[in-house]
Amino acid sequence: MPVVFEKCAEDGTSFFLLNTPNSSYIISVLKNGIVSHSGWSRRIEKWSGNSAIWKTDRGVNLLPDLDPRNLSLDTMPQEYSTAGKSDFRPGAIELALNDGTHTLDLRYFSHDIIEEKPQLEGLPATYSVNSGEVETLALKLKDTKYDIFVTLFYAAWAERDVICRWVKIENKTDGKIKIEKVMSACIDFAGSDYKMLQMSGSWGRERKVYMRDLVPGTQSIESRRGSSSHHQNPFVALLAKDASEDSGEVFGFNFVYSGNFEARIDVDYMESARFSMGINPYNFSWNLEAGASFTAPEVVMVYSKDGLGAMSRTFHDLYRERLCRGQWKDKPRPIVINNWEATYFDFDEKKLCALADAAKDAGVEMFVLDDGWFGNRFDDRRALGDWVVNTQKLKGGLPYIVSEMKKRGLGFGLWVEPEMVSPESELYKAHPDWCIHIPGREMYLARTQLMLDLSRKEVTDYLFETLSGVFASADISYIKWDFNRYMTDAYSEGLETEQQQEVAHRYVLGLYSLLERLTAKFPHILFESCASGGGRFDPGILYYMPQIWTSDNTDALSRISIQAGTTLVYPPSAMSCHVSAVPNHQTGRITPLAQRAFTAMAGTYGYELDMTKLSKEEIVQIAEYSNFYKKIRSIVQSGDLYRLVSPWEKSDKVEKYAAWMNVSKDKSFAVVTVSWVYAEALAPKIVLKLKGLDGNADYKDLKSGKIYSAKELMYYGLLLANLWPGNASEQILLERV
Ligand code: GLA
Repeated sequence: MPVVFEKCAEDGTSFFLLNTPNSSYIISVLKNGIVSHSGWSRRIEKWSGNSAIWKTDRGVNLLPDLDPRNLSLDTMPQEYSTAGKSDFRPGAIELALNDGTHTLDLRYFSHDIIEEKPQLEGLPATYSVNSGEVETLALKLKDTKYDIFVTLFYAAWAERDVICRWVKIENKTDGKIKIEKVMSACIDFAGSDYKMLQMSGSWGRERKVYMRDLVPGTQSIESRRGSSSHHQNPFVALLAKDASEDSGEVFGFNFVYSGNFEARIDVDYMESARFSMGINPYNFSWNLEAGASFTAPEVVMVYSKDGLGAMSRTFHDLYRERLCRGQWKDKPRPIVINNWEATYFDFDEKKLCALADAAKDAGVEMFVLDDGWFGNRFDDRRALGDWVVNTQKLKGGLPYIVSEMKKRGLGFGLWVEPEMVSPESELYKAHPDWCIHIPGREMYLARTQLMLDLSRKEVTDYLFETLSGVFASADISYIKWDFNRYMTDAYSEGLETEQQQEVAHRYVLGLYSLLERLTAKFPHILFESCASGGGRFDPGILYYMPQIWTSDNTDALSRISIQAGTTLVYPPSAMSCHVSAVPNHQTGRITPLAQRAFTAMAGTYGYELDMTKLSKEEIVQIAEYSNFYKKIRSIVQSGDLYRLVSPWEKSDKVEKYAAWMNVSKDKSFAVVTVSWVYAEALAPKIVLKLKGLDGNADYKDLKSGKIYSAKELMYYGLLLANLWPGNASEQILLERV
């Protein structure tokens, strides 16, 4: 079983061994109750207790009850370090206690081994379905002075190299305490010989991959924007120095949360690296009344002994199978046409129908009506909050336009941005106190809009009723849920003064409860999340909405890098990708249609351009791409992804092209995509060594009819020549024969 508990006879230490197929995570409980971390690496069956205690004579701040001279919390690897005792490194938890201090001394109290993964109340999280697939260790610690309990949860997966961690704080004293900081996971690595990988960027260039060597001091990423953000994804990996795409130890950490977060690595004077991840302590505190408890969100920790590629595939399987939910979790996602880049705000029902005519001929399955269909929304300066159809633009309202789409055999999807309100709107007039703002201070607008105060129940209730009305008003089968500004002036008129630092977290909890109610009420709707593109691309969102608009940048070359970063963690099925017009609206670049199509086929596929302006030949060509995608859709959406050449690797080769493969789970089909990212007059040939095929089989290239052995393709490679100029990219579909 994944969780093993044993006692070491000689020195009274007990330990827990959390085993996944390829890893072991070891926790030692010293005889004085201090819970120490003893390592996380390749799987072992037996543990001697070695290295449970690090002896270092520091002369100060010892653990007198164990060894007055040689034991120091400051150098001991810990499971969950506290503030105020002898660990001077940044701790995992900080509580403001009634006696005015912040000092906490947590010791082992009890433990429980649970035969499933318990749910986290009000929070998104991975879940277990079958008995035996997860075992959860609930390790309860207690402060030595007060009745404050901190339970560390570790869910170890029997068939996946995953351990999920989260934390619950219980205040059993008879007074209130204040949580100032609570990290969901904290791990002390014995050494610091690692590279830190992060995904950073901005609007239009999300999730670029950066790597750096660890150095003494702090290296960190965070969001203070009220959402997980374009700028730093809540993901960090630590790589052994020799780790690469297909080999070496990698530890991946992803925070299942959509608000302010912090992930940091602190390297100390003993050259140990402390990793921690959780809600950002910035502008956060939580009043924990007597008898109350607080649960901090989950961190998913993935171990890979075989490099980044295996880490990605572990995340993908977990998220597809045990994070996403609902009817659309495993269903093939429809090919969409979205009218945003085709019309922006300038449309009426005739224009939309003309676009739908062209889209239907191009093999599209779903028409998504973007921004501008409601209230006085003729531009992006007004009307957010007024979710009533604008009949000047859409005569006959939603039922009419939906029936027109149906006539053409298309499903219908609708854009909403429910978390926002425009100052120029009926909603704002009726409830000026419902937005996040500080009374008496100038309000900061972004895109001329304000955030609604989702920390207030009456606001989420109102949104639930209003949106339910819209979603039920016609046969709507797809919702694009947008979120286009960050939080400033975090203040809620619904909370007391001393609770104002709870606003950002309460906002996220309010959002989650609203999404829970709406997705339960409309299970047939496919929800797609968006936040000015990929500004809230995190696992918290995926729990409610199984796909996310990856970026507002639809340029094929930009997308190759954005999507490669995204799929480091998130499965292709979660990544919404559209073919758009050239010159591209965000970069002005012209790329061939084939390259745009093959790039978009790396995820859930669609179009976002004015197809009425295309020639018949172009529509026929696009229809061929749609048909091809329908053939490979299940391979991309539910198969395994192998990166052949990654855009972030700094080698000559990589600056010129990127290549990846999607392989069906049974290995009977594989799609290979290669794309030049740099134009050459005479493009050199490419020899691509494939991965992930069934080594004992032969594969047929379904276009050329040629048959190759898998070994030839994997060890000697596939030769591709003359890709540029012209299509700039190639896609090959292989079938096992
Ligand atoms: C955001 C989204 C876009 C589009 C516009 C509409 O920018 O990311 O895809 O929906 O809003 O205003």
